[in-house]
Amino acid sequence: MKKVVLAYSGGLDTSCCVRWLKDKGYEVICFIADVGQNDDFVKVEKRALSGGAARVYIKDLKTEFVDEFIFKSLKANAVYEGKYLLATALSRPLIAKYLVEVAHKEKAQAIAHGCTGKGNDQVRFEVTARILDSSLEIIAPVRIWEFKSREEEIEYAHDKKIPIDVTKKKLYSIDKNLWGVSIESGVLEDVWVEPPADCYQWTKSPEDAPNKPTYIEVEFNKGIPVKINGKAYSGIELIEKLNKVGAANGVGRSDMIENRLVGIKSREIYEAPAGAILYCAHKELEAMVLDRELMHYKETRSSLYGELIYNGLWYSPIRVGISKFIEESQKNVTGTVRLKLYKGNCTVVGRKSRHSLYKQELATYSKGDKFDQSLAEGFIRIYSMPFQV
Ligand code: ARG
Repeated sequence: MKKVVLAYSGGLDTSCCVRWLKDKGYEVICFIADVGQNDDFVKVEKRALSGGAARVYIKDLKTEFVDEFIFKSLKANAVYEGKYLLATALSRPLIAKYLVEVAHKEKAQAIAHGCTGKGNDQVRFEVTARILDSSLEIIAPVRIWEFKSREEEIEYAHDKKIPIDVTKKKLYSIDKNLWGVSIESGVLEDVWVEPPADCYQWTKSPEDAPNKPTYIEVEFNKGIPVKINGKAYSGIELIEKLNKVGAANGVGRSDMIENRLVGIKSREIYEAPAGAILYCAHKELEAMVLDRELMHYKETRSSLYGELIYNGLWYSPIRVGISKFIEESQKNVTGTVRLKLYKGNCTVVGRKSRHSLYKQELATYSKGDKFDQSLAEGFIRIYSMPFQV
Protein backbone atom coordinates (compact mmCIF):
# COMPACT_ATOMS: atom_id res chain seq x y z
CA MET A 1 0.00 0.00 0.00
CA LYS A 2 1.32 3.45 -0.90
CA LYS A 3 1.65 5.91 1.95
CA VAL A 4 0.84 9.60 1.77
CA VAL A 5 1.25 12.34 4.37
CA LEU A 6 -1.49 14.94 4.06
CA ALA A 7 -1.31 18.47 5.45
CA TYR A 8 -4.58 18.37 7.36
CA SER A 9 -6.55 21.26 8.85
CA GLY A 10 -9.98 19.78 9.51
CA GLY A 11 -11.58 22.12 6.98
CA LEU A 12 -13.83 21.12 4.10
CA ASP A 13 -11.12 20.50 1.50
CA THR A 14 -8.68 18.50 3.59
CA SER A 15 -11.49 16.48 5.19
CA CYS A 16 -12.68 15.43 1.75
CA CYS A 17 -9.04 14.77 0.74
CA VAL A 18 -8.54 12.15 3.46
CA ARG A 19 -11.46 10.10 2.26
CA TRP A 20 -10.70 10.61 -1.40
CA LEU A 21 -7.06 9.51 -1.02
CA LYS A 22 -8.14 6.50 0.99
CA ASP A 23 -10.62 5.50 -1.69
CA LYS A 24 -7.77 5.77 -4.20
CA GLY A 25 -5.92 3.11 -2.22
CA TYR A 26 -3.54 5.17 -0.10
CA GLU A 27 -2.70 4.76 3.53
CA VAL A 28 -3.27 8.34 4.70
CA ILE A 29 -1.22 9.89 7.49
CA CYS A 30 -2.54 13.29 8.57
CA PHE A 31 -0.18 16.01 9.67
CA ILE A 32 -1.74 18.82 11.69
CA ALA A 33 0.42 21.89 12.24
CA ASP A 34 -0.31 24.11 15.22
CA VAL A 35 0.59 27.57 13.96
CA GLY A 36 -1.61 29.31 16.50
CA GLN A 37 -4.95 28.82 14.76
CA ASN A 38 -6.41 27.92 18.15
CA ASP A 39 -8.42 25.00 16.85
CA ASP A 40 -9.75 22.25 19.04
CA PHE A 41 -7.05 19.76 18.03
CA VAL A 42 -8.75 16.85 19.78
CA LYS A 43 -11.75 17.45 17.56
CA VAL A 44 -9.60 17.90 14.44
CA GLU A 45 -7.69 14.70 15.18
CA LYS A 46 -10.93 12.77 15.70
CA ARG A 47 -12.23 14.14 12.45
CA ALA A 48 -9.13 12.97 10.58
CA LEU A 49 -9.39 9.49 12.06
CA SER A 50 -13.13 9.20 11.45
CA GLY A 51 -12.50 10.33 7.85
CA GLY A 52 -10.17 7.38 7.36
CA ALA A 53 -6.68 8.52 8.42
CA ALA A 54 -4.43 5.70 9.61
CA ARG A 55 -2.48 7.98 11.96
CA VAL A 56 -2.35 11.60 12.96
CA TYR A 57 0.62 13.78 13.86
CA ILE A 58 0.06 17.08 15.63
CA LYS A 59 3.03 19.37 15.99
CA ASP A 60 3.25 22.66 17.83
CA LEU A 61 5.16 24.95 15.47
CA LYS A 62 4.24 28.26 17.11
CA THR A 63 7.66 29.17 18.50
CA GLU A 64 9.43 28.44 15.23
CA PHE A 65 6.69 30.26 13.35
CA VAL A 66 7.18 33.39 15.44
CA ASP A 67 10.98 33.40 15.65
CA GLU A 68 11.92 32.18 12.20
CA PHE A 69 9.09 33.49 10.06
CA ILE A 70 6.87 36.17 11.59
CA PHE A 71 9.61 38.26 13.19
CA LYS A 72 11.82 38.02 10.12
CA SER A 73 8.94 39.30 8.04
CA LEU A 74 8.23 42.06 10.56
CA LYS A 75 11.86 43.21 10.59
CA ALA A 76 11.63 43.51 6.82
CA ASN A 77 8.29 45.40 7.04
CA ALA A 78 7.12 42.83 4.52
CA VAL A 79 3.68 43.42 3.13
CA TYR A 80 2.11 42.33 -0.15
CA GLU A 81 0.63 44.99 -2.37
CA GLY A 82 0.45 47.38 0.54
CA LYS A 83 -2.23 45.53 2.48
CA TYR A 84 -1.52 41.89 3.23
CA LEU A 85 0.77 41.03 6.14
CA LEU A 86 1.25 37.53 4.75
CA ALA A 87 -0.11 35.39 7.61
CA THR A 88 -1.14 32.47 5.40
CA ALA A 89 1.84 32.82 3.08
CA LEU A 90 4.33 32.70 5.97
CA SER A 91 2.90 29.52 7.44
CA ARG A 92 3.13 27.42 4.28
CA PRO A 93 6.88 26.86 3.98
CA LEU A 94 7.00 25.97 7.67
CA ILE A 95 4.16 23.46 7.36
CA ALA A 96 5.73 22.01 4.21
CA LYS A 97 9.05 21.57 6.00
CA TYR A 98 7.42 19.36 8.62
CA LEU A 99 5.28 17.58 6.07
CA VAL A 100 8.52 16.43 4.45
CA GLU A 101 9.95 15.51 7.85
CA VAL A 102 6.93 13.34 8.68
CA ALA A 103 7.08 11.75 5.23
CA HIS A 104 10.69 10.75 5.94
CA LYS A 105 9.80 9.37 9.36
CA GLU A 106 6.91 7.39 7.90
CA LYS A 107 8.90 6.36 4.82
CA ALA A 108 6.01 7.65 2.74
CA GLN A 109 6.43 8.05 -1.00
CA ALA A 110 4.08 10.99 -1.29
CA ILE A 111 2.83 14.13 0.39
CA ALA A 112 -0.51 15.79 -0.25
CA HIS A 113 -2.24 19.09 0.40
CA GLY A 114 -5.78 20.40 0.05
CA CYS A 115 -5.02 23.50 -2.02
CA THR A 116 -6.84 24.37 -5.21
CA GLY A 117 -5.15 24.70 -8.58
CA LYS A 118 -5.96 28.41 -8.69
CA GLY A 119 -4.23 29.58 -5.57
CA ASN A 120 -0.86 30.50 -4.16
CA ASP A 121 -0.75 27.92 -1.41
CA GLN A 122 -0.21 24.99 -3.76
CA VAL A 123 2.88 26.76 -5.07
CA ARG A 124 4.21 27.51 -1.59
CA PHE A 125 3.79 23.91 -0.40
CA GLU A 126 5.18 22.34 -3.52
CA VAL A 127 8.13 24.65 -4.12
CA THR A 128 9.22 24.11 -0.53
CA ALA A 129 8.81 20.34 -0.77
CA ARG A 130 10.76 20.23 -4.02
CA ILE A 131 13.57 22.26 -2.54
CA LEU A 132 13.75 20.03 0.55
CA ASP A 133 13.22 16.62 -1.10
CA SER A 134 12.52 16.46 -4.79
CA SER A 135 12.04 12.69 -4.73
CA LEU A 136 8.70 12.94 -2.94
CA GLU A 137 5.61 12.60 -5.08
CA ILE A 138 3.11 15.43 -4.57
CA ILE A 139 -0.62 14.85 -4.74
CA ALA A 140 -3.12 17.69 -4.88
CA PRO A 141 -6.54 15.99 -4.86
CA VAL A 142 -8.48 19.24 -5.20
CA ARG A 143 -6.79 19.88 -8.55
CA ILE A 144 -7.80 16.56 -10.01
CA TRP A 145 -10.91 15.31 -8.29
CA GLU A 146 -14.38 15.24 -9.77
CA PHE A 147 -16.07 17.96 -7.69
CA LYS A 148 -16.72 21.16 -9.59
CA SER A 149 -17.62 23.44 -6.70
CA ARG A 150 -17.52 23.81 -2.95
CA GLU A 151 -21.24 22.96 -2.98
CA GLU A 152 -20.48 19.58 -4.58
CA GLU A 153 -17.78 18.93 -2.02
CA ILE A 154 -20.27 19.63 0.75
CA GLU A 155 -22.62 17.08 -0.80
CA TYR A 156 -19.80 14.53 -1.00
CA ALA A 157 -19.01 15.15 2.67
CA HIS A 158 -22.66 14.62 3.59
CA ASP A 159 -22.89 11.42 1.49
CA LYS A 160 -19.76 9.97 3.04
CA LYS A 161 -20.70 11.21 6.53
CA ILE A 162 -17.56 13.32 6.80
CA PRO A 163 -18.05 15.91 9.55
CA ILE A 164 -17.57 19.53 8.34
CA ASP A 165 -18.39 23.01 9.63
CA VAL A 166 -19.09 24.75 6.33
CA THR A 167 -22.66 25.17 5.17
CA LYS A 168 -23.93 26.12 1.72
CA LYS A 169 -24.97 29.49 3.14
CA LYS A 170 -21.66 30.21 4.86
CA LEU A 171 -19.24 29.23 2.16
CA TYR A 172 -16.24 31.12 3.50
CA SER A 173 -12.85 29.56 3.20
CA ILE A 174 -10.91 30.60 6.25
CA ASP A 175 -7.25 30.22 7.06
CA LYS A 176 -6.12 31.20 10.55
CA ASN A 177 -2.86 31.39 12.40
CA LEU A 178 -1.20 33.48 15.10
CA TRP A 179 -0.36 36.25 12.62
CA GLY A 180 -3.81 36.63 11.13
CA VAL A 181 -6.91 35.36 9.41
CA SER A 182 -7.60 35.13 5.66
CA ILE A 183 -11.21 34.90 4.54
CA GLU A 184 -12.49 34.34 1.02
CA SER A 185 -15.26 32.78 -1.10
CA GLY A 186 -19.03 32.86 -0.85
CA VAL A 187 -20.56 36.33 -1.08
CA LEU A 188 -17.10 37.90 -0.89
CA GLU A 189 -16.52 36.90 -4.51
CA ASP A 190 -18.79 39.79 -5.49
CA VAL A 191 -16.29 42.62 -5.07
CA TRP A 192 -19.04 45.25 -4.87
CA VAL A 193 -20.52 43.65 -1.76
CA GLU A 194 -19.40 45.01 1.59
CA PRO A 195 -17.97 42.19 3.72
CA PRO A 196 -20.83 40.94 5.92
CA ALA A 197 -20.27 41.24 9.65
CA ASP A 198 -20.25 37.45 10.00
CA CYS A 199 -17.14 37.00 7.87
CA TYR A 200 -14.90 38.61 10.48
CA GLN A 201 -13.40 36.09 12.86
CA TRP A 202 -11.46 38.17 15.38
CA THR A 203 -12.04 41.90 15.12
CA LYS A 204 -14.85 44.07 16.42
CA SER A 205 -16.25 46.36 13.82
CA PRO A 206 -14.87 49.89 14.30
CA GLU A 207 -18.45 51.11 14.86
CA ASP A 208 -18.86 48.79 17.84
CA ALA A 209 -15.40 49.43 19.26
CA PRO A 210 -15.07 51.46 22.47
CA ASN A 211 -15.62 55.20 22.25
CA LYS A 212 -12.46 55.79 24.24
CA PRO A 213 -8.99 55.12 22.78
CA THR A 214 -6.63 52.52 24.19
CA TYR A 215 -2.99 53.58 24.56
CA ILE A 216 -0.23 51.00 24.44
CA GLU A 217 3.55 51.05 24.45
CA VAL A 218 5.51 48.47 22.49
CA GLU A 219 9.21 48.04 23.16
CA PHE A 220 11.57 46.56 20.57
CA ASN A 221 15.01 45.05 20.93
CA LYS A 222 16.97 44.89 17.66
CA GLY A 223 13.76 44.89 15.65
CA ILE A 224 11.99 42.28 17.78
CA PRO A 225 9.02 43.32 19.94
CA VAL A 226 9.71 42.27 23.51
CA LYS A 227 7.51 44.27 25.89
CA ILE A 228 4.04 45.74 26.08
CA ASN A 229 3.53 48.58 28.57
CA GLY A 230 6.87 47.76 30.16
CA LYS A 231 6.08 44.08 30.73
CA ALA A 232 8.13 41.38 29.00
CA TYR A 233 6.39 38.65 27.02
CA SER A 234 7.43 35.76 24.85
CA GLY A 235 6.88 36.33 21.15
CA ILE A 236 3.77 34.15 21.15
CA GLU A 237 2.24 35.85 24.20
CA LEU A 238 3.04 39.28 22.87
CA ILE A 239 1.31 38.61 19.56
CA GLU A 240 -1.68 37.06 21.34
CA LYS A 241 -1.97 40.11 23.63
CA LEU A 242 -1.82 42.55 20.73
CA ASN A 243 -4.30 40.49 18.74
CA LYS A 244 -6.73 40.85 21.63
CA VAL A 245 -6.37 44.55 22.26
CA GLY A 246 -6.21 45.32 18.55
CA ALA A 247 -9.29 43.22 17.77
CA ALA A 248 -11.27 44.89 20.55
CA ASN A 249 -10.55 48.24 18.89
CA GLY A 250 -11.35 47.05 15.37
CA VAL A 251 -7.71 47.32 14.27
CA GLY A 252 -6.13 45.26 11.48
CA ARG A 253 -8.91 44.68 8.98
CA SER A 254 -8.35 44.88 5.28
CA ASP A 255 -10.45 44.18 2.23
CA MET A 256 -8.24 43.59 -0.74
CA ILE A 257 -8.11 42.68 -4.40
CA GLU A 258 -4.79 40.97 -4.89
CA ASN A 259 -2.72 39.63 -7.76
CA ARG A 260 -2.19 35.92 -7.31
CA LEU A 261 0.96 34.27 -8.58
CA VAL A 262 -1.10 32.20 -11.02
CA GLY A 263 -2.21 35.38 -12.75
CA ILE A 264 -5.73 36.00 -11.51
CA LYS A 265 -7.03 38.72 -9.27
CA SER A 266 -8.91 37.61 -6.20
CA ARG A 267 -10.59 39.26 -3.28
CA GLU A 268 -9.65 38.44 0.26
CA ILE A 269 -10.53 39.83 3.66
CA TYR A 270 -7.73 39.90 6.18
CA GLU A 271 -7.59 40.41 9.91
CA ALA A 272 -4.21 40.92 11.52
CA PRO A 273 -4.56 43.11 14.61
CA ALA A 274 -1.15 42.34 16.15
CA GLY A 275 0.46 42.50 12.74
CA ALA A 276 -1.01 45.92 12.02
CA ILE A 277 0.12 47.32 15.37
CA LEU A 278 3.61 45.86 15.15
CA TYR A 279 4.12 46.85 11.53
CA CYS A 280 3.15 50.41 12.32
CA ALA A 281 5.29 50.57 15.47
CA HIS A 282 8.31 48.91 13.90
CA LYS A 283 8.33 51.21 10.89
CA GLU A 284 8.05 54.23 13.13
CA LEU A 285 10.97 53.18 15.28
CA GLU A 286 13.05 52.63 12.16
CA ALA A 287 12.15 56.12 10.97
CA MET A 288 13.87 57.44 14.06
CA VAL A 289 16.95 55.24 14.28
CA LEU A 290 17.92 54.37 10.69
CA ASP A 291 19.91 56.89 8.69
CA ARG A 292 18.27 58.10 5.52
CA GLU A 293 20.30 56.03 3.04
CA LEU A 294 19.76 52.77 4.91
CA MET A 295 16.09 53.47 5.49
CA HIS A 296 15.37 54.30 1.87
CA TYR A 297 17.34 51.35 0.54
CA LYS A 298 15.65 49.01 3.00
CA GLU A 299 12.26 50.23 1.83
CA THR A 300 13.06 49.02 -1.67
CA ARG A 301 13.77 45.56 -0.27
CA SER A 302 10.53 45.40 1.75
CA SER A 303 8.21 44.96 -1.18
CA LEU A 304 10.54 42.43 -2.80
CA TYR A 305 10.72 40.49 0.46
CA GLY A 306 6.94 40.51 0.68
CA GLU A 307 6.70 39.30 -2.91
CA LEU A 308 9.13 36.45 -2.31
CA ILE A 309 7.08 35.31 0.69
CA TYR A 310 3.85 35.64 -1.24
CA ASN A 311 5.24 33.75 -4.21
CA GLY A 312 6.39 30.78 -2.15
CA LEU A 313 10.11 31.44 -2.34
CA TRP A 314 10.92 31.43 1.36
CA TYR A 315 13.69 28.87 0.94
CA SER A 316 15.24 30.62 -2.05
CA PRO A 317 18.80 31.99 -1.92
CA ILE A 318 17.58 35.53 -2.59
CA ARG A 319 15.14 35.52 0.35
CA VAL A 320 17.85 34.17 2.63
CA GLY A 321 20.33 36.75 1.32
CA ILE A 322 17.99 39.69 1.81
CA SER A 323 17.23 38.41 5.29
CA LYS A 324 20.94 38.76 6.18
CA PHE A 325 20.85 42.39 5.10
CA ILE A 326 17.62 42.97 7.05
CA GLU A 327 19.21 41.40 10.13
CA GLU A 328 22.19 43.76 9.84
CA SER A 329 19.85 46.73 9.50
CA GLN A 330 18.16 46.00 12.82
CA LYS A 331 21.02 46.42 15.25
CA ASN A 332 19.89 49.87 16.38
CA VAL A 333 16.15 49.20 16.15
CA THR A 334 15.74 49.26 19.90
CA GLY A 335 13.30 51.52 21.65
CA THR A 336 9.67 52.14 22.48
CA VAL A 337 6.71 53.30 20.44
CA ARG A 338 3.51 54.62 21.94
CA LEU A 339 0.33 53.94 20.02
CA LYS A 340 -3.28 54.92 20.20
CA LEU A 341 -5.87 52.35 19.13
CA TYR A 342 -9.22 53.82 18.33
CA LYS A 343 -12.11 52.57 16.21
CA GLY A 344 -10.12 50.69 13.63
CA ASN A 345 -7.14 53.02 13.64
CA CYS A 346 -3.68 52.51 14.99
CA THR A 347 -1.83 55.80 15.30
CA VAL A 348 1.67 56.43 16.55
CA VAL A 349 1.70 59.14 19.19
CA GLY A 350 5.19 58.85 20.66
CA ARG A 351 8.58 57.22 20.25
CA LYS A 352 11.87 56.99 22.16
CA SER A 353 15.18 55.24 21.66
CA ARG A 354 18.73 55.55 22.90
CA HIS A 355 19.75 55.20 19.25
CA SER A 356 17.56 58.05 18.11
CA LEU A 357 18.99 60.13 15.28
CA TYR A 358 16.38 62.79 15.92
CA LYS A 359 18.13 65.62 17.70
CA GLN A 360 15.91 68.32 19.08
CA GLU A 361 18.77 70.83 19.12
CA LEU A 362 19.10 70.39 15.34
CA ALA A 363 15.38 70.35 14.59
CA THR A 364 14.14 73.06 16.92
CA TYR A 365 12.71 76.40 15.85
CA SER A 366 12.94 77.60 19.42
CA LYS A 367 15.98 78.59 21.46
CA GLY A 368 18.90 76.19 21.77
CA ASP A 369 19.14 75.80 17.99
CA LYS A 370 22.52 74.29 17.03
CA PHE A 371 21.89 74.20 13.28
CA ASP A 372 24.01 76.88 11.59
CA GLN A 373 21.53 78.25 9.07
CA SER A 374 24.16 80.44 7.42
CA LEU A 375 25.82 77.29 6.01
CA ALA A 376 22.65 76.37 4.11
CA GLU A 377 23.28 78.95 1.42
CA GLY A 378 26.58 77.38 0.31
CA PHE A 379 25.12 73.90 0.55
CA ILE A 380 22.27 74.79 -1.80
CA ARG A 381 24.56 76.61 -4.25
CA ILE A 382 26.78 73.57 -4.68
CA TYR A 383 23.81 71.18 -4.61
CA SER A 384 22.11 73.04 -7.44
CA MET A 385 25.29 73.73 -9.41
CA PRO A 386 25.10 70.73 -11.81
CA PHE A 387 21.55 71.63 -12.81
CA GLN A 388 22.37 75.29 -13.15
CA VAL A 389 25.31 74.36 -15.42
N1 ARG B 1 -4.78 35.05 -0.47
C1 ARG B 1 -4.00 34.63 0.65
C2 ARG B 1 -2.64 34.14 0.21
O1 ARG B 1 -2.47 33.81 -0.92
C3 ARG B 1 -4.70 33.62 1.51
C4 ARG B 1 -4.95 32.30 0.86
C5 ARG B 1 -5.81 31.36 1.69
N2 ARG B 1 -7.08 31.96 1.99
C6 ARG B 1 -8.13 31.33 2.51
N3 ARG B 1 -9.16 32.03 2.78
N4 ARG B 1 -8.13 30.04 2.74
O2 ARG B 1 -1.76 34.08 1.02
